Amino acid sequence: MRALPPRRGIAYSAPMKSDSPKTFHVKSFGCQMNVYDGERMAEMLGAEGYVAAADGADADLVVLNTCHIREKAAEKVYSDIGRLKRADGSTPTIAVAGCVAQAEGAEIARRAPSVDVVVGPQAYHRLPDLIAKAAKGEKAIDLDMPLESKFGALPKRAGGQRPTAFLTVQEGCDKFCTYCVVPYTRGAEISRPYADLIAEAQALVAGGVREITLLGQNVNAWDGADTKGRAVGLDGLIRDLARIDGLERIRYTTSHPNDMTDGLIAAHGEIPELMPFLHLPVQAGSDRILAAMNRSHSVDSYLKVIERVRAARPDIAISGDFIVGFPGESEADFQATLDIVRATKYAMAYSFKYSRRPGTPAATMDDQVDEAVMNDRLQRLQALLNEQQHAFNAATVGRTTQLLLERKGKLDGQLIGKTPWLQSAHLVAPGLAIGNMVEVRIASAGPNSLGAEPLMEAVA
Ligand code: 5AD
Ligand code: SF4
Repeated sequence: MRALPPRRGIAYSAPMKSDSPKTFHVKSFGCQMNVYDGERMAEMLGAEGYVAAADGADADLVVLNTCHIREKAAEKVYSDIGRLKRADGSTPTIAVAGCVAQAEGAEIARRAPSVDVVVGPQAYHRLPDLIAKAAKGEKAIDLDMPLESKFGALPKRAGGQRPTAFLTVQEGCDKFCTYCVVPYTRGAEISRPYADLIAEAQALVAGGVREITLLGQNVNAWDGADTKGRAVGLDGLIRDLARIDGLERIRYTTSHPNDMTDGLIAAHGEIPELMPFLHLPVQAGSDRILAAMNRSHSVDSYLKVIERVRAARPDIAISGDFIVGFPGESEADFQATLDIVRATKYAMAYSFKYSRRPGTPAATMDDQVDEAVMNDRLQRLQALLNEQQHAFNAATVGRTTQLLLERKGKLDGQLIGKTPWLQSAHLVAPGLAIGNMVEVRIASAGPNSLGAEPLMEAVA
């Protein structure tokens, strides 16, 4: 095991058994890819001899795996660093990873001197070396986007305690929407090789995973070559993953409307393991704003994709992302966003106030929208989206379906699982356990979750 810095923390000054392992805590913010990266960092630290701290508050090493997508998310890092200071003034070894690390780099170490390691999202396979460097008292900063893939350098996966897992298949973005930092923090689009993904999925399933969510900033831009050397897109990958015995559910996120190929749309009607859920952000409902955002699709082309996906899989749940208050957005533009929401009927959606990100083209555009106007628009949009989500949930009452049980609920004996449409549903049923797939009837619906009744013992 590598040594940690002999420094400030009580953990270092207090007498310790020589064989007591160092503890770590990884805290991930933001998107699901950060969750995946956080898990891979934890696996890597485990392979280096560290153990997960029971309580993050007194870990020897804390990794803050950060998000830079909006201002609030980015600023949070500094308050989190401050909070790591302990009552006696000591701090653990602190590593800042993720997109804030990539975007702000050495500035973080300057602004927050207690930070020991700064590592970008394409270099975190080097975290143990960086910690070792920090142990020698040097600042360890690695913001490379190396040619070698971090995935090859990470320990093999084994599946965890949970029945669901994320699998990053694609990273980075070449789309350059004018508001977005992702092309700068995550770099250019890359697709992980087909064989690696099949192998990683097999390992996860062998470890008890029954549902895999394929991740990518532009997941539907994934391409590769299968074992016979044939070019395949995401639909081909999903088709082959669905053949893995024991893998019962496949999902993917996030998609760009322009990369919804005929094959991927058709896959929704053909592959039973592919769950009836599609997260397809449109961001805004005005063609003028979409052009200013450099989205390279129109309202019409988006609605056509939705129509075709629904023709392939009529019960599919559609989800989206929206930004209100993009520079130059008028009330009429905003009304057009409400119109596209009414036309699409979302099962769920995320909506955000536009956040000016330094270095992006939109940050210097004229006509930045007033905060009060943004607040008002966000409220109106969210009221409509909440109404739609509730209506979607209510429409599932009385249906029989399957739940994959994922975690314990708040009440005694309660378990929470997901429907195929990604709704959370709770039930109380003695004899069932996390990891079971259970046949249920949806009995009630609230805005955010469903109540379910089991129809029989666990399916398996
Ligand atoms: N301001 C507000 N929301 C943003 N998103 C990305 N960049 C910004 C920004 N600068 C939102 C988009 C994207 C989601 C992940 O975050 O809706 O789809
Ligand atoms: Fe950002 Fe646009 Fe790429 Fe999505 S498609 S990651 S919003 S640049």
